[in-house]
Amino acid sequence: MSASITKCLFPVAGLGTRFLPATKEIAKEMLPLVDRPIIEYGVDEAVGSGCREMVMITGRSKKAIEDHFDRSFELEELLKSRNKESLYNEVVSRSTRADFIYLRQHRPLGLGHAVLCGEPVCRNEYFGVILPDDVMVAETPVLSQLIEVHKARGGCVLALEEVPEADTARYGIVVAESAGDGVFAIRDMVEKPGPERAPSRLAIMGRYILSPGIFPLLSAQGTGAGGEIQLTDGIRAIIGAEPVWGLLYRGRRFDCGTQVGWLDANISLAMEHPALREVVLEAVRRCGERNSI
Ligand code: G1P
Repeated sequence: MSASITKCLFPVAGLGTRFLPATKEIAKEMLPLVDRPIIEYGVDEAVGSGCREMVMITGRSKKAIEDHFDRSFELEELLKSRNKESLYNEVVSRSTRADFIYLRQHRPLGLGHAVLCGEPVCRNEYFGVILPDDVMVAETPVLSQLIEVHKARGGCVLALEEVPEADTARYGIVVAESAGDGVFAIRDMVEKPGPERAPSRLAIMGRYILSPGIFPLLSAQGTGAGGEIQLTDGIRAIIGAEPVWGLLYRGRRFDCGTQVGWLDANISLAMEHPALREVVLEAVRRCGERNSI
């Protein structure tokens, strides 16, 4: 049986140009999704999956992420002095439930390069990767579902989702054989192929369990699709040396890397929030009335 996974890496150096001008000074991971910044959903998932060390691969203008997960003496004292005990406990526990480690990605050389930046901290053990733009809502955290496959079968594990043919160019697409129970043995993969080149419709989503064996492969690797050091190419190079599994995860995904996906996530999750559901319904009803005048 494999050892448990305690470290989770978050590539958060991207500039968030799709959200400009909102993200000129604010990290896109800090945009609120209902009641928390987007990054907090990923951290919740990692903590809920048993990880205790959050390894953030950051870049310039991402200081707000570090401050967010730090203790805030002034805020804590204020909440205490105003007897806001439950808010105080919540704020403190969100900063103390894990260790937060920050490493810089100095140049925007791609997702594979971002993962490679985590080598100093992750080089000795299997580790999780969460791409926080993909917000996952699931009964069992999706990273935890991947960890279960890793514990039972060893090797790397990637989250898979079946996507429409028209969307294959947005994802890494795998060649895989079913091994039962939603698990697939991955034989090959290609980054962002158009429908005419896509070997299947099984797409990689932003959750991975990776072997430390990926680091030497990534550092030896040249640039791939889009002139970037692709994570997909690094994982592809591992196939053969150790098993690489895919799991059709159970849960829902919101692509918060786009304005449309982020808006959808806000409305959908607010509808599931007991205190906010009526607010959304009322706002939609009012808009409907105004439009029919
Ligand atoms: C990255 C990966 C891609 C994967 C996707 C999931 O692409 O390179 O293989 O399918 O994340 O969100 P990106 O979205 O960073 O372009």
